[in-house]
Amino acid sequence: MNRYRVYASCDIGEEAFRLLREAGCEVDFHAGPCPVDRTVLLAKIRSGIDGLICSLLDRIDEEVFSAGSKTLKVVSQYAVGVDNIDREAANRHGIPFTHTPDVLTDATAEFALFMLGAVARRLYPSESLVRSGGWKAWHPFHPFLGEEVQGKTVCAVGAGRIGQAFLTKCLGLDVNLIIHSRSDTSSFQRDLQRLMDLRHELGMSGERRTVRSLGFRESLENSDFVSLHVPLTPLTRHLMNEEAIGCMKPGAFLINTARGPVVDEQALVHALRERRIAGAALDVFETEPLPADSPLLAPELQDRVRLFHHFGSGARRTRLSAQPDEGMAGRCVAGLLSVLEGGKPETFRWVVNREVLSLDGK
Ligand code: GLV
Ligand code: GLV
Repeated sequence: MNRYRVYASCDIGEEAFRLLREAGCEVDFHAGPCPVDRTVLLAKIRSGIDGLICSLLDRIDEEVFSAGSKTLKVVSQYAVGVDNIDREAANRHGIPFTHTPDVLTDATAEFALFMLGAVARRLYPSESLVRSGGWKAWHPFHPFLGEEVQGKTVCAVGAGRIGQAFLTKCLGLDVNLIIHSRSDTSSFQRDLQRLMDLRHELGMSGERRTVRSLGFRESLENSDFVSLHVPLTPLTRHLMNEEAIGCMKPGAFLINTARGPVVDEQALVHALRERRIAGAALDVFETEPLPADSPLLAPELQDRVRLFHHFGSGARRTRLSAQPDEGMAGRCVAGLLSVLEGGKPETFRWVVNREVLSLDGK
């Protein structure tokens, strides 16, 4: 006898679904690679499911919450970012929603690091040269060179979990670091500096490297690489607009693994065409999938623009592990079950709109 009915708008893996079934859930899911049709999603919710597993492909708004108003007990987002979910609508209907923080922090941070390397050292043009038969001879500088990262200055705009992990991973590149954050990161900054000093003392870095916390404009003006790690909010939408991009050095690169709309793509394309900045590596876009007619795909930008398919957390263990402390699938299921099964407030760790459960301050 199943206690709960759960619908997943995407396939989060057999292992996770098995865990749900073992916990007494009847599980139904949308299997295809394309997003579930909106009318199908609403019909599933109206059919009286207790739990919904969703992804950033689903707009979880008033219509969805009111469709589940009498029956839906929890929405569990298979992602850390929740900008597709209308928190006020959730609260109006008294429905908690969970997300999957932490388990994708390192995967996303390392992906940002590899994107940085790929665009700076021109991995794609190099491989294309080999594949196209265009590699005629080894040469000191023909047909192109890349930019060395060591000794440069790397900035994280946003120093939450992923931003901090990114900066920590950058230590090995032997670079200077800049933190731009709205929250107090002074103890993290101190720790980074201690590690930099130790590396220098042990002869592992060319020079003594430094980490600074700077305001937005100064961060952009002083960095060779700017990596974005902010959530998408009304305040961060088009944070990287024409003016902000204009503050970057002409030789600088922009890396975005956060959310597409944090960057004004039109302004970015303009800056790239005019060579006002050196390049960009993007994993997220204003419209996803990236439309075939996006100017970012223009052949003349191909040498300085790297494009990926929202792949930052796309590592096998990170996406599919059913262990709640290891994978998004596991944390998504654990979040969902924690609400369905109730229990102590501390088990509601992954609830985002905690106010709906009156957890805080009690
Ligand atoms: C992916 O983009 C996420 O927010 O988890
Ligand atoms: C390059 O291939 C070198 O040997 O320096």
